[in-house]
Amino acid sequence: MHQLTGYTDRWSARAGERIGFMVASAADRAYELRFVRHLCADPNPDGPGYREVVMPHRLAGRKPGQARSARPGSCATIDALALPATGGLVLSARIWPTTPAKGRQVILGLEAGGTRIELAIAADGGAEFRVGEARVAVGRPMLPRRWYALEARCDAPAGTIALVQTPLAPVGTIADGGQATRNAAIGTLGGVARVTIAARREGAVAEAFCNGKIERPTIAQLDGTTIASWDFSVGIATQRIVDRGPQAAHGQLVNLPTRAMTGSNWTGEVHDWKVAPEQYGAIHFHDDDMGDCGWPESFALEIPKDWPSGFYAAHVRNEAGEDYIPFFVRPARGARTADVAFLVPTFTYQVYSCFVRPGRSEEIRERAIAWGALTETPDLNPQFGLSTYNSHSDGSGVSIVSMLRPQLDTRPRQISLMDPVPKGSGTGRIGCDSYVIDWLDRAGIAHDVVTDHDLHAEGVDALKPYRVVICAQHPEYHSLRMMDGLERYLGGGGRLMYLGGNGFYWRAEPSTDAPHAIELRRAEGGIRVWATEVGESYHQFGGGYAGLWRRIGKPAHRLVGNGFSAQGRHLGFPYAFTDAIRDPRVAFMTAGIENAAAPGARFGDSGFMGGGAAGFELDSADERYGTPPNALIVAKGIVIHDDYGPVNEDMLIHRHPRPREDWSCADMLFFETPAGGAVFSVGSMTYVGSLPPEGYANTCAKLTTNVLRRFLDPKAFA
Ligand SMILES: [Fe+2]
Repeated sequence: MHQLTGYTDRWSARAGERIGFMVASAADRAYELRFVRHLCADPNPDGPGYREVVMPHRLAGRKPGQARSARPGSCATIDALALPATGGLVLSARIWPTTPAKGRQVILGLEAGGTRIELAIAADGGAEFRVGEARVAVGRPMLPRRWYALEARCDAPAGTIALVQTPLAPVGTIADGGQATRNAAIGTLGGVARVTIAARREGAVAEAFCNGKIERPTIAQLDGTTIASWDFSVGIATQRIVDRGPQAAHGQLVNLPTRAMTGSNWTGEVHDWKVAPEQYGAIHFHDDDMGDCGWPESFALEIPKDWPSGFYAAHVRNEAGEDYIPFFVRPARGARTADVAFLVPTFTYQVYSCFVRPGRSEEIRERAIAWGALTETPDLNPQFGLSTYNSHSDGSGVSIVSMLRPQLDTRPRQISLMDPVPKGSGTGRIGCDSYVIDWLDRAGIAHDVVTDHDLHAEGVDALKPYRVVICAQHPEYHSLRMMDGLERYLGGGGRLMYLGGNGFYWRAEPSTDAPHAIELRRAEGGIRVWATEVGESYHQFGGGYAGLWRRIGKPAHRLVGNGFSAQGRHLGFPYAFTDAIRDPRVAFMTAGIENAAAPGARFGDSGFMGGGAAGFELDSADERYGTPPNALIVAKGIVIHDDYGPVNEDMLIHRHPRPREDWSCADMLFFETPAGGAVFSVGSMTYVGSLPPEGYANTCAKLTTNVLRRFLDPKAFA
């Protein structure tokens, strides 16, 4: 487990803006703080050469440390519900348990006047009701992923507590319903209750989290008069729950459970919750949801005016641990410093972050220590929650990710995986995207950075000041506003260089009332590690249809000319030039590499990511999906390898509709846009790893530099 780590309250800040840092230091150890700018964040001693620049600041120096904890598990809380002085209460809810056998799980609980009343799932998987020390249980396990109605009564005049468990879709031979009653002496109820849904609160700490969906938890008097009834079909896009009862005792969600979930009354006729919200009155809670670590701010940095735009980190270190907490600096508003913007894929970073891969730490540890790289990984720190590449403990997919937690696998000076080639770096995210910064810096090309989050917030205005926008290794996730922003940027004559693979693939939408959170649902097709449940393909954040941009009418092919078509192991293979490299329209690409750039000639056969420029995830052109007919494919990185297979969404029957060479390849292509701009795409996730060899002077790097220099030339493309 980490000894020293932290997170920021935002991904990027402009000169003069403030960014807050939350740091946790085990055993309250003090630590040293400094700020660094990364030109190359790859720690590989045989790599391009790690380069960090210390940025002096008055905040730097020794800091007192405080230990902080992280507590996953979602629930809903209502701090004050007035109970009438009454001889009894009825607690009810409908539930769709996902792990009925995992141990005791509280569905609806309240504390009033020293008495704790709880409707729960008992250790045996059946419903249980507790009033103080008295307990009654049905003793019949519920089945996972089926709806049940539960009703519990405590009746002081009768001196009984009773419980009914009713399956809403009974299964023939399985007895999963029942009831139980027991005599119990119940004191007077009443006063102001603290209510918790889906967990039990002990002081500030919650426990006994419930996995599964809960619908319409209700507290009533014995005569049926409602005291409170929470209707989860109201305010689906928010973190607030609404009480339909007379007190309007609304509550708050904790740790981002999943809303817009089909309820017990879902008919199957409606798939968009906005059309019939009453059929989406369930919330799916998970014992490993993580929304916000909630640590107090340790320090805040006002970005100095003289700090260049770029990749930065707060480096914290003491005798027990070390971390680089990343952030991105933009120039002051209206003060761009360059014609090139590097679009940092912070949406994709966040969507991947906290990817718990069992055994990953063990696998990379020895190399990380030898390279002086960071050694902490998410599998050692599950308390920070999961990524959307994981499933929850109950087997449902993780669809919401927060940035308010240490994203331990999204760091500079880090190894992401054991690279299969001898001098490979195994970098990902910040590590490999920094090759682009290193390349620009060494080529003397001024550049600013803009993040996905900035593009989402500002739309095309974030990109408009720049003649060229560069996307790097893996810009996979975008919101509708980001896609619109990119389209409008190109529509206005912008030039876009897409130096990655599997780009512009899934829709991902942030929350308006919890802006630190991003949601994505893996609807319909796509290469995906879990699939959205039937009827739940619309996002709770914003209500848009989820899934692949290709299925939502904005295929990557239309934006950048190619789209994800094949995937395989983290290996890299060369490209070969096609006849089109001789086309006068792309003559600018071959300056200084005229001999190397001959049709059929190979290039990109070395690199720090898998050993070659074409690999891992590959994008190819396809006019059916929107590749512009004027696109020139100047090189192809064809990968015929046992481990490389097609994307699901291309497979209509068991045979691929196209010849293998046409889809198991990275298409390097160029096209002009109607507004005088242009697009250059490489369609491979290992491409940026092939920029550094030979001091960024290999054919790949020279060609890419040629493209950038032409794109920087204001002269309109024909
Ligand atoms: Fe991906």
